[in-house]
Amino acid sequence: MNTLQYTVDAEGIALIAFDLPGRPMNVLTPQLQNELAEVIEKAAADAAVKGIVLTSAKPGAFIAGADIKDMVSAFDRGLSAAEGAAMSRVLHGILRRMETCGKPVACAMNGLALGGGLEVALGCHYRVLAEGAEVGLPEVGIGLLPGGGGTQRLPRLIGVEKSLPLLLTGQKLKAAEALKLGVVQAVGKAEDVVALAREWLLKSPKAVQPWDEKHYRVPGGAGPLAPHAQRSFMAGTALTAANTQRNFPAPLAILSCVYEGTQLNIDAGLRIESKYFGQLIAGPVARNMMRTLFINKNAADKLARRPAGVARSKVGKLGVLGAGMMGAGIAYSASAAGIEVVLLDSTQEMAEQGKQYSARLLDKALSRGKTTEQKREAQLARIKPTARYADLAGCELVIEAVFENRAVKAEVTRQAAEVLGPDAIFASNTSSLPISSLAKTYKLPAQFIGLHFFSPVDKMPLVEVIMGEKTSEATLARSLDFVAQLRKTPIVVNDGPGFYTTRVFATFFQEGLLMLEEGIAPALIENAAKMAGMPVGPLAVSDEVSMAFQLKGIEQNLADGQKLTPHLARVIQVLRVMVEDARRIGRRGGAGFYDYPAQGKKQLWAGLAERFPLAAQQPEVEALRERFLTIQALETARAVEDGIVQDAADADIGSILGIGFPVWTGGTLSYIDTLGVDRFVAQCERLAAAYGERFAPSAWLRARAQSAQRFHPPMAGLAA
Ligand code: NAI
Repeated sequence: MNTLQYTVDAEGIALIAFDLPGRPMNVLTPQLQNELAEVIEKAAADAAVKGIVLTSAKPGAFIAGADIKDMVSAFDRGLSAAEGAAMSRVLHGILRRMETCGKPVACAMNGLALGGGLEVALGCHYRVLAEGAEVGLPEVGIGLLPGGGGTQRLPRLIGVEKSLPLLLTGQKLKAAEALKLGVVQAVGKAEDVVALAREWLLKSPKAVQPWDEKHYRVPGGAGPLAPHAQRSFMAGTALTAANTQRNFPAPLAILSCVYEGTQLNIDAGLRIESKYFGQLIAGPVARNMMRTLFINKNAADKLARRPAGVARSKVGKLGVLGAGMMGAGIAYSASAAGIEVVLLDSTQEMAEQGKQYSARLLDKALSRGKTTEQKREAQLARIKPTARYADLAGCELVIEAVFENRAVKAEVTRQAAEVLGPDAIFASNTSSLPISSLAKTYKLPAQFIGLHFFSPVDKMPLVEVIMGEKTSEATLARSLDFVAQLRKTPIVVNDGPGFYTTRVFATFFQEGLLMLEEGIAPALIENAAKMAGMPVGPLAVSDEVSMAFQLKGIEQNLADGQKLTPHLARVIQVLRVMVEDARRIGRRGGAGFYDYPAQGKKQLWAGLAERFPLAAQQPEVEALRERFLTIQALETARAVEDGIVQDAADADIGSILGIGFPVWTGGTLSYIDTLGVDRFVAQCERLAAAYGERFAPSAWLRARAQSAQRFHPPMAGLAA
């Protein structure tokens, strides 16, 4: 046996310890599944064996789940739903044989058990979990469902009502919660779990699952009309409604598995689960989510784009210039990561106000039991508010987050440069000004870089790292180390107006402004964007960004030589109506497309109907949805063409984590690849004919379509 050890002790207890060679954790490779099947037969046939314990020889982890490599190669093969269903039937067969082999089987989870790992445990008659370990079925998070019996055994074990939230959210359970819910029957120290499992086998073993006993009824799911079952499903439907509306097929498939499966016996239920699993794994959503959110995001977090040959570094002291919304947020995230922060603003008082932002966040965390008084004090003590540049002495990195104004930025850069040492890196958090032009104001342009955070900084996981023309590889490497120190996800892009994310995001909310100008109902515009999967509608986004700020940005770009296209002229017109005529600049000014009452929720401004009269004919939601997705994907393709984005993985991660492009697509370039570049180009041409030049695909993109050149390579190469 290569993947597990099998021993039988003097008391007749067979111990199966998973130990996948060359991997830090066990995953359910085809070989491991085969060998498990083999040893189950061996134990079943051995009269000396009284009971079986499953455990892991890897410290801290039982089984982490499915084998991603195996899945990826299935995705690359383009497997059919029937083949996907067959994949799930293999594990079903093994676990079904295990639970009906006549010998009691106990699972000693010495560490985490996720996905397929927990499903193996659910196929045992008794489960012990190590304190501090977690269990869960997180498949929904990558567009799949637990296809190893999880949707059938969990509801049968703990009831429909309790299992649905776990299956639909993918939430992980700590040991105490798992015990309370009945997912496990005992909790002990990691070193004792095998002994506890043996004790059960020797004292009170049972070799039959509850669901194989006569007259078994699924708790809370006894029949289609049982009122408590109805209630659970209604709650489950509510949970999935928001998600499925946004194009995720997995939650609805999970609900169907539980609803249909628990009305039948376990074998029929498992067949239903396989059918739905096959459909999901053969579809594009699971493939795209797995690639972007699992494989590529993990690689980005491990700094896949970090230049080799530069020693790993850590920032001990960080300078933040500007204690406004962004500066205060960066100071919070850095201090939370244990970094000393000098937070500088024009006056001591404004700097102190910036620090208060962290105090407020920490107060909230304290009231929710997420931090302790001691930790709160320690983190706040790491933030030093100041108005004196001399305090920046000794900073390894300074991030500038003052007003979006070249002159102001140049001045703070000059003053900081006088204090900073020769090794210090200077970064700008500008959201749109080209980095190479800002770098000219720093004494060492090679040590100047863009570190573009997103608002609110404490919640948003992305940092867009922008290379100026002269930024050195060492500066990039050290900046990426800093992003990792903050536990955020970096993408690396080249310089240009709006870099990558700002440039693409602008096309989204500008498309909303154009729709408004066309006479489309504001509520329809907002809802269509949300139904496409964007977290916030374009008019609400416009209010957040501030329309005065947008106008200034556009004027700056035009002054820098950007062409005034017909659609940009229309966008400017809409912004002027709001800023200059209606005097509603957006949220910061207290009024924009929305009203922001002191009490209650924001509401679309009633005056919009007068400024932007409704067209007699309103479009279908689908037409608007298509425009929102297409314009952003097309702008991404242009950013690739312009050399701003070099890596399809970065483009997808940035679009999802930075601007909220719908998760179900896997990102802007996955959206194009999934449609097929040729179909995407045809879609753009159709939209260009209807709505204007901004949708016209370039010759470069048309050539790509002709040679069927996808943006993403096959996944196999990524899943190293
Ligand atoms: P803000 O207006 O909230 O804060 C700017 C801060 O800089 C203010 O506290 C101001 O007193 C301070 N400041 C201005 N001149 C100064 C000087 N000479 N010396 C010291 N401090 C000075 O602006 P916000 O939103 O925090 O934006 C800051 C930067 O971050 C801008 O470049 C912006 O484009 C960028 N950014 C903004 C995002 C957003 O969502 N608001 C997102 C990403 C980047």
